[in-house]
Amino acid sequence: MPNQPLKPDKVDMSVNLGGLQMKNPVCTASGTFGYGSEYIDYFDPALLGAVIVKGTTMEPRAGNPPPRIVETPAGMLNAIGLENPGVEAFISQYMPELRAQGVTVVANIAGNTLEEYGQLAQRLDHVEGIAALELNISCPNVKQGGLQFGTDPDMVYQVVNMVKSNTQLPVIPKLSPNVTDIVAIASAAQEGGADALAMINTLMGMAVDIDRCRPTLANIFGGLSGPAIKPVALRMIYQVYQQVKLPILGGGGIVSVRDALEFMMVGASAVSIGTGIFVDPYLPCQVIDGLQEYAAQHGLASIKELVGAAHQE
Ligand SMILES: Cc1cc2nc3c(=O)[nH]c(=O)nc-3n(C[C@H](O)[C@H](O)[C@H](O)COP(=O)(O)O)c2cc1C
Repeated sequence: MPNQPLKPDKVDMSVNLGGLQMKNPVCTASGTFGYGSEYIDYFDPALLGAVIVKGTTMEPRAGNPPPRIVETPAGMLNAIGLENPGVEAFISQYMPELRAQGVTVVANIAGNTLEEYGQLAQRLDHVEGIAALELNISCPNVKQGGLQFGTDPDMVYQVVNMVKSNTQLPVIPKLSPNVTDIVAIASAAQEGGADALAMINTLMGMAVDIDRCRPTLANIFGGLSGPAIKPVALRMIYQVYQQVKLPILGGGGIVSVRDALEFMMVGASAVSIGTGIFVDPYLPCQVIDGLQEYAAQHGLASIKELVGAAHQE
């Protein structure tokens, strides 16, 4: 890598993730930044590469009963259960403000059936201001006895294919790490027509309340996020980058500029920040600035030059 320092403002920070054009590679992860307005006192959400909004379902959902969050060593478990107002309320109540703010919005969708994914994609297709669809495929398929869409390559292929045939928007399936062979899942998504991959979603875990002698979460199991999952995410992105030709939106445990750099070096074209925002709401802006500074210090004209750098001999 060359080592002639540039001025940070000379670094091209823009990235294109399979048709999703972003001014910089830093996004907020679905479910951790609401619809952006919750953080408006901290910074302007339009500064971000994209805001990936809270997961949206066809019908409103109340989510799981509490307790549904618990802190763990180097992370947290959540079992929110996709609480959201439903797709119609998302479009009518939340999209107008996001549009007015000039935010690059990625909608995150979750279905109970293959058909529901198709319906959600079709409904969101021509909604002004939505730049891409991220597919949460860590949902149980009710027609297939509750098996998660994201753990079976054939179902991944089908869900991506169904969404692609119902939208013109870039389609970004978000891969579940709760699988044995992540490359097989990523390849199925590619064959199904995915434009990019988001990885990783949370790892299934649990915690026990020894005073009550019961599982801590009412749902018993929850999704583990935060620094605890970063090494798993890096390993999976490294593997997929070598085998699959799609751009990757990497995330899972990013809490610093260094973390974001690691994700880009193993192959992520852009990064998402989730749990880290709960600790420091300014983190996404710090990461944007830090990436820009690092690239300038290393003489890079574009942030894209970092992508996959750890694979080079
Ligand atoms: C409270 C909470 C809610 C989440 N909700 C969603 C969701 O609705 N859809 C989704 O695809 N991922 C959801 N996630 C997963 C995050 O988007 C992210 O993939 C994961 O937390 C790993 O990144 P992190 O370690 O930076 O948080 C949620 C995570 C948390 C902590």
